[in-house]
Amino acid sequence: MSIRAIVLAAGKGTRMKSDTAKVLHDVCGRPMLWYVLHAVRAAGVTEMYVVTNAELQARMDEFGATGILQEEQLGTGHAVRTALDAMKPDESGRVLIACGDMPLVDAGLFSAVLAAADGNSAMALVTARVSLPSNFGRIVRRDGSVERIVETRDASASELQIDEVNAGIYAFDEAALRDAVGRLRNDNAQKEYYLTDTVADLVRSGKRVAPVEISNPAHVIGINDRADLALARREMNIRLCAQHMRDGVTIVNPLSTSLEPELKIGRDTVIYPNTSIGRLSEIGERCAIGPNSHLSNARLGDEVTVNESSVFDSRAGDRTSIGPYARIRDDSQLAQDVRIGNFVEVKNSKLARGVKASHLTYLGDAEIGEETNIGAGTITCNYDGKRKNKTVIGRDVMIGSNTSLIAPITIGDGALTGAGSVVTKDVPAGQRVAGNPAKPLPNK
Ligand code: UD1
Ligand code: MG
Repeated sequence: MSIRAIVLAAGKGTRMKSDTAKVLHDVCGRPMLWYVLHAVRAAGVTEMYVVTNAELQARMDEFGATGILQEEQLGTGHAVRTALDAMKPDESGRVLIACGDMPLVDAGLFSAVLAAADGNSAMALVTARVSLPSNFGRIVRRDGSVERIVETRDASASELQIDEVNAGIYAFDEAALRDAVGRLRNDNAQKEYYLTDTVADLVRSGKRVAPVEISNPAHVIGINDRADLALARREMNIRLCAQHMRDGVTIVNPLSTSLEPELKIGRDTVIYPNTSIGRLSEIGERCAIGPNSHLSNARLGDEVTVNESSVFDSRAGDRTSIGPYARIRDDSQLAQDVRIGNFVEVKNSKLARGVKASHLTYLGDAEIGEETNIGAGTITCNYDGKRKNKTVIGRDVMIGSNTSLIAPITIGDGALTGAGSVVTKDVPAGQRVAGNPAKPLPNK
């Protein structure tokens, strides 16, 4: 028996007022749809079908699900029928139906609704009590059992008083679903094929429909506009922070910390306020990150400090300290015990163990050997107007304050440049140079 899912996502999302399909809008670094598919997969579903519009269909490769284009949006029932037509029938299968615009629904709820569509019930659906008025479809019960769903626009005055509503999450016996969907008609206020009409259809043919009532309707409210999007983002971020805190990370102020899914943060690391961490970053143990820091695709070892700084697409080894006000980017690799101080930019450079660049420096396209000290105000002049050129500095080098290194250039191990040097030629190991242009000094 297969458990498959159909995720409805072809709606236009008019209220987003956007050129981007609604379910592709970002919540904490991932498109809304990513969360839905993630939770559906975690509930044990192996095959996922997403009903799409043309814009979404073009992006489906990213999602590990099969996109099924619904050319015209004729209603949720039509969307499901379009999906079923494209799926190989499995008479004994179960089908989970979810909406692509509900990123806060967790795997537990999907599992619960799947479990409720057991042999006794041909269908299960999630219901919630909400305050009225509401736009949700109303659950009409008879003698306590679910009898049908009436959409707001088709409801009578007394039906509008019902505060138990349809969340839009369902599980079906596949055979019963195929039958019922085939019989749907669109003779209603919206001239749409309503998936919700399958409830009355199944009940009429003697089948049971099981309600799964939830206590917090906030998590099943679909995202319709950008205000909803902000609420979803806040809730998701709280969940992400809570998960890391439970795993031993201190987050001083979760409300001003922005995390994404799929981060690794080691225990006893402390994250200070106004800090964002994203794009699969990995942070070791006992690190201090923030305040006011931004990490994106960063790999940090243990006991690393990042203070009021940003690290993009770069790595730093154990005990390295960065900042305040530093910017590390473009595949820079800082080894262990490196010290990057204030107003230092490091771009596409490799710094070996113990390198220090403590103040006001630009290191671009450079390779620097162990224990070398880069004086305040040093610039690797890597760009000659056409090309980016390399600077190679050996180990135990002393680069004097305010040195300009005109790349391509190589400074040998143990060399020294005097303060204010403009170094235009390679410096051999052990040589001392100074001046503009820098010239060899007599050895002491
Ligand atoms: C639907 C339910 C309503 C429920 C509510 C919960 C129906 C008829 N009504 O109403 O009972 O309370 O969800 O949120 O199902 N979609 C398509 N193709 C279509 C139409 C819709 O893929 O042709 C998708 C939308 O992108 C969306 C989902 O289906 O993800 C729900 O559609 P929407 O129009 O938002 O349904 P509601 O009118 O809110
Ligand atoms: Mg609608």
